[in-house]
Amino acid sequence: MSQEFFITYILYPWAGVAAVVFLVLQFVSAPYGRHTRQGWGTMIDNRWGWLIMEIISPIVLLGTFWHYKTQNGGLTWFFVALWLGHYLNRSIVFPWRIRTNGKKMPLLIALFAGIFNSVNGFTNGFYLANYGYLYPNDWVFSLQFIVGVALFASGLAINWQADEVLLRLRSATETGYKIPHGGLYRFVSCPNYLGEIIEWLGFALMTASPAAWVFWGWTVANLVPRAQANHNWYRHHFTDYPPKRKAILPFIW
Ligand SMILES: NC(=O)c1ccc[n+]([C@@H]2O[C@H](COP(=O)([O-])OP(=O)(O)OC[C@H]3O[C@@H](n4cnc5c(N)ncnc54)[C@H](OP(=O)(O)O)[C@@H]3O)[C@@H](O)[C@H]2O)c1
Repeated sequence: MSQEFFITYILYPWAGVAAVVFLVLQFVSAPYGRHTRQGWGTMIDNRWGWLIMEIISPIVLLGTFWHYKTQNGGLTWFFVALWLGHYLNRSIVFPWRIRTNGKKMPLLIALFAGIFNSVNGFTNGFYLANYGYLYPNDWVFSLQFIVGVALFASGLAINWQADEVLLRLRSATETGYKIPHGGLYRFVSCPNYLGEIIEWLGFALMTASPAAWVFWGWTVANLVPRAQANHNWYRHHFTDYPPKRKAILPFIW
């Protein structure tokens, strides 16, 4: 498949779906976590939901990369390793660290997320396998690559730190919500989402892959409306919620 065909007939339509999802999420918050509600069909255990929907991503990316790989050098393996590292944490470590006693999520959400993760795993694995050899030899010394790596690392650190604050808010048996403080919570309600968005922006820059840019678009489409919904939820539930805190972008949004 030529790169033009892949971009025009797979990536463009997939980016279009992300735009539609972004619009829909302005009106309907995905019914998991604090926004869980009745009417979304069969419910499954939260931990297993996270495992099932997230483990698909590294499996599909690695399987696709392995199947299609042609003449790839170490750099594409580095990108694959970053993806696998992120998703192995999200699918295997994170679900068993959350304090989620007895909580459930709709099976439908796990299925939607599984489709999102499968397609993004496929497009990114396919791009790196088929076109990864196009990187010039000195790509790792380019400003774009270096800035990308720096953003990926700082986004990952922000995401982990922010998730860590949330995980420590509850004892092993608690299930309620408290106001998070410290770190970037001084400025925004959802620094974990901000970190995730910065991380995948870094990935798109360092790989210069159109598939990674579309994945970044999907991440923004999912997490910006979610951050707004969480922010509104905090303001509604806590009268003492810090008034200057924004939803996701310090001082701005
Ligand atoms: N790339 C993407 O498109 C994408 C999409 C979704 C999520 N993610 C990532 O996945 C991770 C989890 O996402 P999420 O939407 O579940 O995040 P979240 O709503 O912030 O929740 C994370 C965990 O902390 C708990 N929690 C949240 N706020 C709390 C509070 N105020 N007090 C006590 N506990 C609290 C949640 O419990 P409850 O479950 O009980 O609410 C959950 O276990 C994030 O790092 C996010 O960036 C990425």
